[in-house]
Amino acid sequence: MHPIDCAELYADGRHYDLENEGFTEDIPFYLRLAARHGGPILELGCGTGRIAIPLAQAGHDVTGLDMSEPMLRHARSKLAESSAALTLIQGDCRDFAFDRLFRLILFPFNAIAHLHDRESVDACFAAVRRHLAPEGRFVIDMFNPRLDYLDREPLQRFPVTEYADPDGRGLVVITESSMYDRATQINHIVWHYRIGQIEDAMAVPNNMRIFFPQELAALLHYNGFCVECVLGDFDESPFQSDSPKQIIVAAG
Ligand SMILES: C[S@@+](CC[C@H](N)C(=O)[O-])C[C@H]1O[C@@H](n2cnc3c(N)ncnc32)[C@H](O)[C@@H]1O
Repeated sequence: MHPIDCAELYADGRHYDLENEGFTEDIPFYLRLAARHGGPILELGCGTGRIAIPLAQAGHDVTGLDMSEPMLRHARSKLAESSAALTLIQGDCRDFAFDRLFRLILFPFNAIAHLHDRESVDACFAAVRRHLAPEGRFVIDMFNPRLDYLDREPLQRFPVTEYADPDGRGLVVITESSMYDRATQINHIVWHYRIGQIEDAMAVPNNMRIFFPQELAALLHYNGFCVECVLGDFDESPFQSDSPKQIIVAAG
């Protein structure tokens, strides 16, 4: 299996939360899913608890698994300030063992793109199957790859986001460049950070394995899952060619 190479990207949970501050539209979707299917819920790659904490606050029994210590540390600090109870475990989604089954196993916000090879996906899906309750559902959210995005000019930089640096160094402005490898299906993205007056203060790799819709369906099928539905966005519209997301709900 390829090593997971995103430690630098997730080196500081405060920055992660600020980078994604404007993105909340998936949370009501996961709250609806949880109300429909019930807990216990396991979130793979739970990060700073952006989704897990609202689920726990809604009264669900939630376990979050993530391999990044800094992301989990930030999740714990947020938990300390809230009334929510949540189990956070450091571990690899390709190799985990809990002595309980889950009615919902979530793999949100493109986290599957960190699994760069088939062996990693197979290992993760096998672990999910071992932990899915008989009536349980496995839900993956991955963006629907757009060919124009993958075909970007590698030297060009595109805006990502900006926010006030949590350490008071001024405005953080992130732009990205990317080079897509059509053989490996890995998009080699680099996030360039301007911090205050320091242009190119950091360059952080964000290598994303791109999963095309029929490929994800096949991977799930050959790993023993039955795809119940594929949604195209968090409004639960059906998946189609120009949908922004591929949100797959699978049974074990
Ligand atoms: C895009 S973030 C998503 C975080 C959170 N689910 C959210 O929606 O905000 C991806 C997360 O997956 C974690 N991750 C990547 N590979 C992993 C692996 N093999 N096992 C566990 N966590 C992993 C990263 O550390 C990171 O926190």
